[in-house]
Amino acid sequence: MSSCNYKRTVIHSTEMFEIVSIEWNNSDLSDFHDHGPSQCMIKVENGTFENHLDLGYKTELQIIETGQVLSTPVGAKHKMRCLTQAGKTLHVYSPRIKDNPDEARFYIPSLSKFCQEINLSDASEFGNLLNLLDQVRNHSISVHSPYFMNQLFSGISPLTLLAQRVISETKATLATYEASPALTAIESEVIEALGELIGWPKNHRDGVVVPGGSAANFMAIHCSRHKSEPAIKTAGLRGERFRIFVSKEAHYSFKKASAVLGLGTDSIVSVAVDSSGCMNTSELKALIEDSRKDSTPLMVVATAGTTVRGAFDPIHEIADICQEHNIWLHVDGAWGGPALFTSQLKNLVSGIERADSVAFDAHKLFGADLTCSFFLTKHKDLLLCANDVSGGEYLFHQADVCLDRGKLSWQCGRSADALSFWTIWKSLGTKGLGQFVDELISLRNQTLSWMIDRPRLQLISMPTYLNICVRVIPPDGQVDIDWSKRVRESLRESNLAMVNYSHDDNGTFLRLILAHPFLKFEHIQKILQHALAVK
Ligand SMILES: Cc1ncc(COP(=O)(O)O)c(C=O)c1O
Repeated sequence: MSSCNYKRTVIHSTEMFEIVSIEWNNSDLSDFHDHGPSQCMIKVENGTFENHLDLGYKTELQIIETGQVLSTPVGAKHKMRCLTQAGKTLHVYSPRIKDNPDEARFYIPSLSKFCQEINLSDASEFGNLLNLLDQVRNHSISVHSPYFMNQLFSGISPLTLLAQRVISETKATLATYEASPALTAIESEVIEALGELIGWPKNHRDGVVVPGGSAANFMAIHCSRHKSEPAIKTAGLRGERFRIFVSKEAHYSFKKASAVLGLGTDSIVSVAVDSSGCMNTSELKALIEDSRKDSTPLMVVATAGTTVRGAFDPIHEIADICQEHNIWLHVDGAWGGPALFTSQLKNLVSGIERADSVAFDAHKLFGADLTCSFFLTKHKDLLLCANDVSGGEYLFHQADVCLDRGKLSWQCGRSADALSFWTIWKSLGTKGLGQFVDELISLRNQTLSWMIDRPRLQLISMPTYLNICVRVIPPDGQVDIDWSKRVRESLRESNLAMVNYSHDDNGTFLRLILAHPFLKFEHIQKILQHALAVK
């Protein structure tokens, strides 16, 4: 852990916990280090120390003195320096530091033994239970690693773990104000701040936390339908035929929501995209006009950051069409919504203030806890009208209905997910979150420059966001439609990295997602070098 002279004594070590005492001399400085999957609590027994904390997206210098306790959350890095003649600190790691914290797991060959051990037929002793929980961890994928690029998130934010503790300890349910006053205020504050960033006027900012971006898209269809045909809420569908227009590269959640809401998956109309993956608005116009023959155009979805290529549909152009035809405009910003936080990317979401609703996932790029998603709308009271029903009088006692946020949702008990994003946002500020996105964009640019001299790495299209989609050409230069998939499996099986793959008419390609707060160019380079070396 250190190159200096301090004395480190392990006082107590069990399978789960380790307690270490360290005696320091003046100016002793530890190496910069993380604690792998452990949280570390540090108590200063005597002396004064400097602690340099790196949370991935920001660094901080803390001064701690005798009697003070400090917590270094999972995922953070830090180094300490003793500022007094001598000093002593106590370190409690839970769970204890593993011998090789860098060891990553991207491939779990078999779960058969694990499945036998977790069967629920007998109750377990506590000691064994702890072992079993360790087994769960050991059979899980290393999403905390910068080499994890499989999803639209990567890494575990130390800040979100702090929030998670409060969520678990308070067990506040966001149904009613009286059972969760503080966390109701937190949810309202985040919705208000997101509405402001979008550019909606003060009295036109409403929203609710939902379990995932898919649920936010579901709510968009539900609200737009209620605005168009409020009678459906009580009478149900009576043969209406609605149409929802999405780009060919939009997320599949719109189809699912249409199935669940009784509109049918046939109500989803896929609009062609250009070579960058952005919606073709001429085709959108033609399809809307055509649909009027036998159906009602209900909603157009502009995706801000498509799932595979990270493309942004042209919101202003789409908003003009929606305005002309009086159709609800929903922006699916589940992945690309963070562009709102940085002036460098804000042009990608230009026009978003004209949207009727927006989906925003804080658990993707911004690393909040899964799930932390927001459905936002500029139509005040529409959520209440669309979701409130009678029968909840036993629960909802507020005169001011808006305080009981459960009324805005189809859920009853709701977890206080907004706290996770609030904690990150409050710590970094809007500017800090924007800088985090900007740094990842710089890494993307560095990667694209490096790829120029490597013709076997072929971009599917020039990225505008944090998705790099690249087809790997085999060493012999011959076309092999499955080669990129093979590369992906090689990365996984060698436990080097986990990236995802998709395909187009020319075969499979890799999708690298840049999202980890500690991501360095060297990580991306190592993945691509491995990709080139696959035989
Ligand atoms: C553009 C887009 N919208 C919606 C979703 C669904 O989000 P969630 O996984 O939070 O349900 C995704 C997920 O990848 C997405 O990429």
